Amino acid sequence: MKKLFAALIFAVLPAIAFASTGGGHALDEVDIDLTDKAALQDGARTFANYCMGCHSAKFQRYERVADDLGIPHELMLSNLVFTGAKIGDLMKIGMQPADAKSWFGAAPPDLTLVARVRGTDWLYTYLRNFYEDPARPWGVNNKVFPNVGMPNVLVGLQGRQVVGCKQVQVVDEGKKQYDPLTGTPLTHEACDQLTIVPKTGKLNEAEFDEKVKNLVTFLEYSANPVKLQSQRIGTYVLLYLAFFFVFAYLLKREFWKDVH
Ligand code: HEC
Repeated sequence: MKKLFAALIFAVLPAIAFASTGGGHALDEVDIDLTDKAALQDGARTFANYCMGCHSAKFQRYERVADDLGIPHELMLSNLVFTGAKIGDLMKIGMQPADAKSWFGAAPPDLTLVARVRGTDWLYTYLRNFYEDPARPWGVNNKVFPNVGMPNVLVGLQGRQVVGCKQVQVVDEGKKQYDPLTGTPLTHEACDQLTIVPKTGKLNEAEFDEKVKNLVTFLEYSANPVKLQSQRIGTYVLLYLAFFFVFAYLLKREFWKDVH
């Protein structure tokens, strides 16, 4: 019983730890599908274009990513490699941590394993919750990472996000409230809400969410590249066992024939 209790504590510990890293802001859930090649490729493109100016993924090689994601090497080199690196190189960047620290106040960490450290829900919420705050050096702040040193690099896609007033659905004890007569959602005006200034971004809200989801899918893959592989190997193992079973069965029949 004691052991079970200890196991339970360890099982919920990470959840408690993560809950405290959300800066008090609730995290949006995201459903990641590591078998979705199109999502992974789109995420890799976004990562190379928007993140690798400052962040490396130096525990990963371009070649491995290209092969795992089904991207031909020439395409990988012409569309995703901007540092003059070769296909077999690690995904490093030119920015020096000391320079970065003086520019941003904090060095941008390597992102190869960030999905394991932060979790996918945190990343998905973080990247969508930058908002304008003139008091900050880059003019932006973040709901899940208060006083973050990173500028909002996806603003061109998302549009300018500001704190403003918006009608939101009334939630009582975690339950969304509806008008009992008409069934329409009950709303009230809340003035601490993030809203997008219309026509300031290239993508609409749903498209932007999808873009970020793909990027997070890529980061999740990057932190667990063997997950893709183990799924593939798992299939082969099961096929092999099914195949082997037939022969084992035939052999058993052969051996027992004379016993009966
Ligand atoms: C202009 C430079 C720059 C670019 C481009 C950039 N970041 Fe950052 N990022 C930073 C800095 C600086 C920090 C450290 C912030 C701090 O500690 O206050 C950071 C922090 C982060 C963190 C938090 C890491 C942690 O666990 O503390 C994540 C996640 C992240 N960036 C993801 C991204 C992604 C994804 C992209 C591409 C869409 C991106 N960043 C593009 C500068 C950048």
